[in-house]
Amino acid sequence: MSVTVKTPEEVDAMRVAGRLASEVLDFITPHVKPGVATAELDRLCHEFMVDVQGTIPAPLNYAPPGYRPYPKSVCASVNHQVCHGIPGDRPLKKGDILNLDITVIKGGFHGDTSRMFIVGEGASILAKRLCAVTYECLWLGIAQVRPGGHLGDIGHAIQRHAEAAGFSIVREFCGHGIGRKFHEEPQVLHYGRADTGITLEPGMTFTIEPMINAGRAAISELPDGWTIITKDRSLSAQWEHTVLVTETGYEVLTVSAGSPAAPSITTA
Ligand code: MF3
Ligand code: CO
Ligand code: CO
Repeated sequence: MSVTVKTPEEVDAMRVAGRLASEVLDFITPHVKPGVATAELDRLCHEFMVDVQGTIPAPLNYAPPGYRPYPKSVCASVNHQVCHGIPGDRPLKKGDILNLDITVIKGGFHGDTSRMFIVGEGASILAKRLCAVTYECLWLGIAQVRPGGHLGDIGHAIQRHAEAAGFSIVREFCGHGIGRKFHEEPQVLHYGRADTGITLEPGMTFTIEPMINAGRAAISELPDGWTIITKDRSLSAQWEHTVLVTETGYEVLTVSAGSPAAPSITTA
């Protein structure tokens, strides 16, 4: 399989799926509070997706080669958890940082997006700075997307900003093409060199989803077969959007009324 270029009709379907994924994050935001368990957030999101939106939660029972079926409908990664955290019964505490990663299927197409949440008051300055810098990394990557540009431009922009801040980039997981399948070609690395990799063409759709660690880049996998943590237990943050390459640049597909604004580093 190679990189798929979406037709205008397929792009329309991707816009719908992208907006719906983002609306799940809007819906769950007021529920992210100290004392709530991530399993409860998962249950609320599942009900909203299935009963209100009529979407399919793509993670539920997702089983790529070498993995057991994912048991929940969203990924919830807390503090030193990097990604693919399985929602559980431990209540969130004030000062925790949480990534909620939502992927829905609607009309046969996927929308994939994640945001960071700072739980209550009292997060450390480091935790807040890590979340903010990672958001800037996402958008600096997005800003590189244009026809004729290269995939490596995205990773290069992300790497430069994360490392200038003294943070490190997780290498083992990357963004991905997305469409009728959850994970398609190409792989979108969050590090690398400008002017390398495939040339971007209008109609390509892929995610950008940098995972940035406050400490070292190394990760390990928990015995649950899914949850990824930092080896040094340092904090980790991630933000994700699904983007389309347009005739003139990019369009972010995972947008909704509650999407945070682009950071000033990309709008100034
Ligand atoms: N949403 C994740 C991504 O951005 C993938 C999660 S796979 C799951 O690619 F099975 F854990 F849900
Ligand atoms: Co993704
Ligand atoms: Co995702």
